[in-house]
Amino acid sequence: MKAKIELGDVQETLLIPLYGRARDAAANRSVLADTRAIELVDAIDYDFTRFTGPSLPGSVLRASIFDQYVRDFLADHPDGTVVDLGCGLSTRFDRLDNGSVRWFDLDLPDTMALRRRFFTDSERYTMIDGSIFDEDWYEAVAERGGPVFLLSEAVLLYFAREEVEDVLGRLARRFGGNRLAVDTGGRFMMGHQDQNPVFRSIPARMQWVCDDPRTLEPIGLRLLESRTFAHPQKAVAGTWPWKYRLGLAAIGFTPMVSGYRMNLFTA
Ligand SMILES: C[S@@+](CC[C@H](N)C(=O)[O-])C[C@H]1O[C@@H](n2cnc3c(N)ncnc32)[C@H](O)[C@@H]1O
Repeated sequence: MKAKIELGDVQETLLIPLYGRARDAAANRSVLADTRAIELVDAIDYDFTRFTGPSLPGSVLRASIFDQYVRDFLADHPDGTVVDLGCGLSTRFDRLDNGSVRWFDLDLPDTMALRRRFFTDSERYTMIDGSIFDEDWYEAVAERGGPVFLLSEAVLLYFAREEVEDVLGRLARRFGGNRLAVDTGGRFMMGHQDQNPVFRSIPARMQWVCDDPRTLEPIGLRLLESRTFAHPQKAVAGTWPWKYRLGLAAIGFTPMVSGYRMNLFTA
């Protein structure tokens, strides 16, 4: 029997990147080749066809940029710890497992209840029911010692600036010296959500406007890299179909593309 969906409004948004990855996996030239996403879409009782438009490939390209940040970290720290805050039904651990990383996936209880229908904990992989805004998971991550990579992809955008800056400040203090990757959206993107087809079919809306990720530095983060879809890492660009590589580079100056950034910080 297919899995029924009982998710809060923001939690439901996890189905957009899931469907994006499934569509990508079915394409002739796939970026992530996430065939597991096809299985998950088939196993969930939901009308995914309501999702159309550029957010579907966009979520795949975004995931590939985040993947590379994690890959670079694991190249330097093969047995480091990775924490995906607001993981949804991401298959990133399966994509990037190098045989020695210690990985935590965290999300809210309703999302995790769905996730646990398809994924199981293992020796180096642990799912945590929790919130990025709470601190009760910090110890489980920190007690292992060693370098930590925190990432939160397409999550903080849905919250108010004060809440986001507060939690980023707390993460920077608790995980000082470590890496943190988050995406930020500028005023133009936030102001045009209602024209984005995926947001016409769901109630959730993004809130956090951040035109310049350097404005986060005073709360304790130092910006190391900030990428848009027009400037992916070289290794990542090589995996993208030409239509995205050339097309996004050509419109890289527009506020829609230049204002959506995937950022890597050191805390
Ligand atoms: C757009 S989805 C992104 C999912 C995943 N990061 C990806 O890219 O596939 C937003 C995710 O944020 C999660 N989320 C919402 N509020 C959260 C919170 N307070 N703490 C942790 N995760 C949260 C939702 O459950 C959902 O999985």
